[in-house]
Amino acid sequence: MTRVRQWLAEARRLVVLTGAGVSAESGVPTFRDAMTGLWAQFSPEELATEVAFRTHPQRVWDWYQQRRTALRSVHPNAGHRALADYALRYPGRMTLVTQNVDDLHQRAGQPHTLALHGDLASDRWLDEPRSCCLTQPPLAGRPPRCPVCANLRRPAVVWFGEALPTDLLARAERAATECHLMLVVGTSGVVYPAAGLARRASAGGARVVIVNPEETALDDIADACLRAASAHCLPRLLEPAPADTMD
Ligand code: APR
Repeated sequence: MTRVRQWLAEARRLVVLTGAGVSAESGVPTFRDAMTGLWAQFSPEELATEVAFRTHPQRVWDWYQQRRTALRSVHPNAGHRALADYALRYPGRMTLVTQNVDDLHQRAGQPHTLALHGDLASDRWLDEPRSCCLTQPPLAGRPPRCPVCANLRRPAVVWFGEALPTDLLARAERAATECHLMLVVGTSGVVYPAAGLARRASAGGARVVIVNPEETALDDIADACLRAASAHCLPRLLEPAPADTMD
């Protein structure tokens, strides 16, 4: 921890890549948790794909509504707050990239978040919106739709098989290439291209530090692995050094 705090003090460009584990202590049901009860009969591919939505729009919409409702009863944890506090203390130094679709980084006050897999709390049009979609309020429904052309509203998340938002990914890749240090927090590191950002940082000469109680698929490139829960580890890792607190 001391060595990593020293690396942190030396780093002028920091990237933090987070995954579901950073929200674990907030009690956010993981993607797999949300496949319980009525939804246990479906595979993720039968719910989180465009084909599934076009085939069974109400089923997919209802599943996301259930996840959105669950999200409203959870709150950012000390790990989210430590990251946001650090970003606000050192403006411009941190680029936060998350694979999570919960809004807990944002709700913790994180100034800028590159949400590569989208945002569960937001909707967008399923098909390219026409003028009728943009000038009329959607008809309420499960899902809501355009009253003129019946274009459907869909969750603004990246479904299996869909490309990540190119501009966000490009900004994340540039930050990974240029950073001095990357913290990889709460991700198993198996889903690309997000996990590839850590390899890109390492290839660019950055130090890579993993915060995860378990082993991950990125351990081979790690300069240090902090085997700890993020809500416990991040506040201690990111707290101001004594000199930072002098007036
Ligand atoms: N602190 C830190 N890490 C934790 C904690 C914790 N308290 N609890 C669990 N973890 C770690 C687990 O050890 C695991 O390595 O968080 C990781 C969660 O891994 P995944 O569930 O695979 O989540 P993630 O890596 O974010 O998945 C990437 O895959 O499911 C799709 O699109 C979805 O964004 C998601 C992507």
